[in-house]
Amino acid sequence: MFPVLITDAERGVTLREFTADDVDAVLAVYGDPKVTEHLSFEPRNRDQVTATINSVTAAARAEPRTEYSLAVENDSEVIGFARLAVDTQHPGQSSAQLGFALRASHWGRGLGTATVRLLLRLGFEELGLYRLWGARSPENLASARVMTRLGMVEEGRIRGHIRVRDRWRDSVVHSILADEWSADQRR
Ligand SMILES: CC(C)(COP(=O)(O)OP(=O)(O)OC[C@H]1O[C@@H](n2cnc3c(N)ncnc32)[C@H](O)[C@@H]1OP(=O)(O)O)[C@@H](O)C(=O)NCCC(=O)NCCS
Repeated sequence: MFPVLITDAERGVTLREFTADDVDAVLAVYGDPKVTEHLSFEPRNRDQVTATINSVTAAARAEPRTEYSLAVENDSEVIGFARLAVDTQHPGQSSAQLGFALRASHWGRGLGTATVRLLLRLGFEELGLYRLWGARSPENLASARVMTRLGMVEEGRIRGHIRVRDRWRDSVVHSILADEWSADQRR
């Protein structure tokens, strides 16, 4: 395993491996209905967040590693959850899905954009992947803004993609390819 630590010093944002001490910080993210409003799951309680942390720390030790669920730190405080999950369905595939969520108190300051930029750096520059993509709720305009700004083009809509809160929900997919990841976006 190579422990991930990737930093944007200018914007004060770091992605690092989770530890068992991060349960409270993740509960402040995934326990908040405002954060999960557009996500694929309901707010999580402490037991569920503890299980999540156990699962992601185990996944970090897998060989080969396909899941990179990382703590988002700002000013040495964990403020979010970032995820890169490598697609493994087809031989020769070189793509991964991104996921990201920040504590609501920290929204609107550019930290979401900084987080996704670090995920793109991890995927393209550290892992050498070719395609990175994200799927958002059609109503999730903040996520649309963050991904579009970083060059993740809207490529289509998956109908009835997930079942959440007792109904089927579409997803809008955004993606970016390695050749599109330019010097401008890295900054
Ligand atoms: C998506 C998320 C990470 C964005 O974090 P953030 O720190 O607020 O992101 P930024 O400040 O970098 O950028 C947010 C952009 O969205 C815009 N925005 C926010 N809410 C919006 C809305 N309702 N409609 C349109 N744009 C909106 C902001 O104005 C900003 O754009 P601007 O800088 O051009 O003004 C955060 O809202 C979050 O954690 N949401 C809950 C989890 C989630 O939805 N994750 C994505 C799953 S696909």
